[in-house]
Amino acid sequence: MKADPEPPEREMAATVREIRASVQRHSTRFEKAIPLIASENLLSPYAKELLISDFHSRYAEGLPGERYYEGNEEVDRVERTCLELARRLFRCSFADVRPISGTVANLAVLKALAEPGDPVGTARLADGAHISSASFGAFGLRGVKPVYYAWDEERMTLDVPKTRAILREARPKLCLFGLSLFLFPIPIEELRPTLEEIGAHGWYDAAHVLGLIAGGEFQDPLHEGCEVISASTHKTLPGPQHGLLLGETRDPDVERRLRSAAFPGVTSNHHLHTMAALAVSLAEHIAFGRDYARQVVANARALGQALYERGFDVLAPGLGFTRSHTIAVRVVREGGGEAVARSLAEAGIITNKNLLPGDSSPKRPGGIRIGTPEVTRVGMREPEMVRIAELLDALLHKGRPPAEVRADGERLKADHTALRFCFGAGEAAYRFYDLVGRDPGS
Ligand SMILES: Cc1ncc(COP(=O)(O)O)c(C=O)c1O
Repeated sequence: MKADPEPPEREMAATVREIRASVQRHSTRFEKAIPLIASENLLSPYAKELLISDFHSRYAEGLPGERYYEGNEEVDRVERTCLELARRLFRCSFADVRPISGTVANLAVLKALAEPGDPVGTARLADGAHISSASFGAFGLRGVKPVYYAWDEERMTLDVPKTRAILREARPKLCLFGLSLFLFPIPIEELRPTLEEIGAHGWYDAAHVLGLIAGGEFQDPLHEGCEVISASTHKTLPGPQHGLLLGETRDPDVERRLRSAAFPGVTSNHHLHTMAALAVSLAEHIAFGRDYARQVVANARALGQALYERGFDVLAPGLGFTRSHTIAVRVVREGGGEAVARSLAEAGIITNKNLLPGDSSPKRPGGIRIGTPEVTRVGMREPEMVRIAELLDALLHKGRPPAEVRADGERLKADHTALRFCFGAGEAAYRFYDLVGRDPGS
């Protein structure tokens, strides 16, 4: 005779237990690791607590004061504050906090300011553009045709004279500036007369550098010639996973089109818990963002220098390696992007393989991308950047076993597990919050 099947409750309690255990192991792993992903960061405790608030359970379609559902008074209050803080931080007249991610914000701009079939300017993926610009990404979804800018590999930014010629020839109506491998500011001011000449909207994807712009450490796109910024809010701006639109335009029709693209174009409800967390993160960035952004960039430059001194092929050595949170390292000699990123992860150092300009195959990235937002958030400074470079050198040049490098990294990280640059500084950065306090099967 067959035994009775497990009642689903018991089976599913075991599943929930496994999911929780996995997430707990993940938190512990990151607490001990050296996380150097340029697009990641850590949320402050006051932002984090809002993610599990009742805002998570509600709908608030539309704008504050003009909702389709009842019960939104406090949501309206928080969203108005969020909008005010965004306009203040970026010194602009327009903000919309309804896109739920950077990609969704990009889709909103494409919906508002381009029609299917239109030519739209962008950098190439190999030069650092985000997959939004690809035919298999947001550009393809909207059916627009990419017009590729010319790239200056030495300076790791757009080649202005050649790009001017390309723009005059193709006359795109919309020009996207902004990258996922974003080392140096984009020469928007130099391109501005050409944008005006051809009547193109300037659009800046600030997903990576949002917190640096707000902290006064990078360019200021809305005051250099772009009308609209799209962004995600969790990279150098250490906020929740969310999206954002900002604008400085003399054309009220552009604002109207952006608003209606945000809702009902690309969102229905806009994830009110993350919107509230974003409001806290924006307030914290007004209070602490300048110091944070300064240290993020100083750390990236220090790490670039320390790696370069240890024989790594860090891009743009003549320009101080970077003006942002990111450095790019060509690791062909060390085995290529994929193998290097993997062996670093084995040693507890988290990076990602990355295509670099001039790579011969998109399937074999020649580099890794390294970012300092998270290690800065937990209080690391220039001396720790030198120690991180020593870890990479030991693993990739001196043949030290991954387990030993990992142990050294863990010792370094042990002093840097608390949040900085936020209210509630000193709180544990990687804590798993056990809300219920007992096992799901009990
Ligand atoms: C330049 C750029 N834009 C947009 C995005 C997408 O943001 P999200 O992941 O919030 O959709 C990214 C993500 O890394 C990015 O690098």
